[in-house]
Amino acid sequence: MNAVIEERRGSVLILKLNNPPVNGLGAALRTALVGAIKAGQENNEIAAFVISGEGRMYSAGADIREFGTTPPAGTPDLNDAINSLEMSSKPVVSAIHGVAAGGGLELALGTHYRVGAAKTRVGLPEVTLGILPGAGGTQRLPRLIDMTKALELITSGRLISVDEAHKLGIIDEVADGDVLEAAIEAAERLATEGAAPRRSRDQAVGLAAAKDNPALFEDFAKTMAKAARGMNAPYACVRCVEAATTMNFDDGLKYEREEFTKLVTATESAAMRHAFFAEREVAKIPDVPATTSAKDIKSAAIIGCGTMGGGIAMNFANVGIPVTIIETEQAALDRGLERIKGNYANTVSKGRLSQDAMDKRMGLLTGATDMQAIGDADIVIEAVFEEMIVKKEIFSKIDAIAKPGAILATNTSTLDVDEIAAVTKRPEDVVGTHFFSPANVMRLLENVRGAKSSPETIATVMNLGKTINKVAVLVGVCDGFVGNRMLHQYGREANFLIEEGVLPQQVDKVIFDFGFPMGPFTMGDMAGLDIGWAVRKRKAAERPSNQRYSAVADRICEQGRFGQKTGAGWYRYEAGNRTPIPDPEIESLIIQASKNAGIERREISDEEVLKRCLYPLVNEGAKILEEGLAIRASDIDVIWVHGYGFPRYHGGPMFWADTIGLDEVYETMRRYHAEHGELMRPAGLLEKLAKEGKKFSDFKG
Ligand code: 3HC
Repeated sequence: MNAVIEERRGSVLILKLNNPPVNGLGAALRTALVGAIKAGQENNEIAAFVISGEGRMYSAGADIREFGTTPPAGTPDLNDAINSLEMSSKPVVSAIHGVAAGGGLELALGTHYRVGAAKTRVGLPEVTLGILPGAGGTQRLPRLIDMTKALELITSGRLISVDEAHKLGIIDEVADGDVLEAAIEAAERLATEGAAPRRSRDQAVGLAAAKDNPALFEDFAKTMAKAARGMNAPYACVRCVEAATTMNFDDGLKYEREEFTKLVTATESAAMRHAFFAEREVAKIPDVPATTSAKDIKSAAIIGCGTMGGGIAMNFANVGIPVTIIETEQAALDRGLERIKGNYANTVSKGRLSQDAMDKRMGLLTGATDMQAIGDADIVIEAVFEEMIVKKEIFSKIDAIAKPGAILATNTSTLDVDEIAAVTKRPEDVVGTHFFSPANVMRLLENVRGAKSSPETIATVMNLGKTINKVAVLVGVCDGFVGNRMLHQYGREANFLIEEGVLPQQVDKVIFDFGFPMGPFTMGDMAGLDIGWAVRKRKAAERPSNQRYSAVADRICEQGRFGQKTGAGWYRYEAGNRTPIPDPEIESLIIQASKNAGIERREISDEEVLKRCLYPLVNEGAKILEEGLAIRASDIDVIWVHGYGFPRYHGGPMFWADTIGLDEVYETMRRYHAEHGELMRPAGLLEKLAKEGKKFSDFKG
């Protein structure tokens, strides 16, 4: 396969980047490109070049899989390749279609004129991989466009539309028709005009702004504080862009390369690259190959219009799929539809949705109080109260009414999907779709595979995830499925730590500083403590009498402190303010609870808090893997990054454990087991991998 396909059109040499699936700028391609440009320079018949991408895009940038590998001796690096284009004495024009991202856009910025096809997206998403544009992006972009805009694009990693890129000055021309034809025309024109090529390195559009405002970079860095918390890459991006204003171009490039090298070898980048590939791997299901026929979902029905049902319905309306929503009482239905309308209106008021789009989405929602209305739906999702008897009754009705072949899904977060499927005559069509609250916002979707769910049913709900813009992960049936089952370990240990000596604010700070959006007690107050309390009361009888149990949360609920909604929970709150304030009353209550449990309180380090909260969570992940309830460790990471705010720059709990070393995790769990008993027993798989010196990423099921 030729990594660069050469075509001649008169005096224009077209060089098509050819490295499927995304034209990653790997070693072979760089070598071929530099060779072709050199030969073209020396060929008097060639007056100009056009660079384009073969297949579905221009280029997605450096081949990420090559990071950390050594290319064959003599291979030009990406900077060499881009410099050879930029320094060409003959005009080089880019014909950009699909996507030009990262090194792909940097390559285009090294050419002298850029033509974009309609619908193209461009950007520098390196920061989302824990690195920075390391092939001149931080030096060329601020020379071409407004400085603040360049900073915003580089530090956010956002891909923008060709029209926005045109307005900003990244793209010179948006092609009306065929982009390659337009680029060839531009190349011929530039060659005929005979002017010296316009090199990005010689431009200075954004540079003046920094001279007028020396505090620009410091001020900009402050605006990133929340989004960039815990990460190095965004700050390195700012430093490099600043270098474009203080150094000459070549020194700036050198500085950028040094900063890039530091980042690309650090764990932050390894973790974020892991997350990138994990999100793509998750769609691959060994016994449901990509060729499995999936059903087309053109209409949906949701049973239950509470917060969850309403949120789920919005996902369908958002992508133009009509939804029928069922409630037993008209009043409840009206309330549910009003809530949806309120959610949309809120987005409209923030300017993120047009009134017209909102009206269209509302127009796709039809309420009904008669179950017969689900009869035509391609998928029926039950989202009613989390009670087995209720769910079974509803599934019998759904079975009687839904059309043959419809997917029958339950949005349970804890219940046995197989038991629900068993009340129907078509368990092969039954599956769990576990949405996370708020369902219209949270991107995670745990698709729960029942024992009898057919490959077609699984392929359909996995595809559906993509259609409604979710990250869908396939999991097996068990209590709490993957995410909540692991969460339970973490919550339990946080509560035990409270009894043993720490206060909620210490645990929350440790977890926040690790990178989660908030700690477990702040989270509990936000979600409402009464829900967990009700579940604990319901399950009290199932708990072995010799098992340790912390009653602190129950004592708090008994006082009517259910969290933010009652103005008090683990913390107290001032009217109209959601900031948790440590409460001396809770401290006394906790100290009393320790006494009642016969526990002598002790100093507990932040390090111990972190390990006690997160190692048992990882340990449960190992049990889930060995029980075959998740396909691979990286699927669990995707669940935690997208459903629970696990910091992406740690990769997810299983990747994080791999970076620590499973021997350390195992040895610590062994100690906890000895000190705290059965709940802390190390998973067999953790023990096995640790003893073999392996990682979770080595586990192949
Ligand atoms: N390197 C290696 N593989 C890549 C890749 C890259 N830059 N970009 C995508 N892929 C792979 C994916 O892993 C996937 O592989 P699979 O089929 O085996 O799972 C395949 O290409 C297709 O990718 P997607 O499923 O993501 O395809 P989409 O059409 O949905 O999206 C895209 C296309 C928007 C380009 C998306 O792939 C993307 O965002 N890619 C990464 C872009 C990026 O971050 N570029 C910067 C790279 S780092 C760099 O350039 C450094 C430089 O500054 C020095």
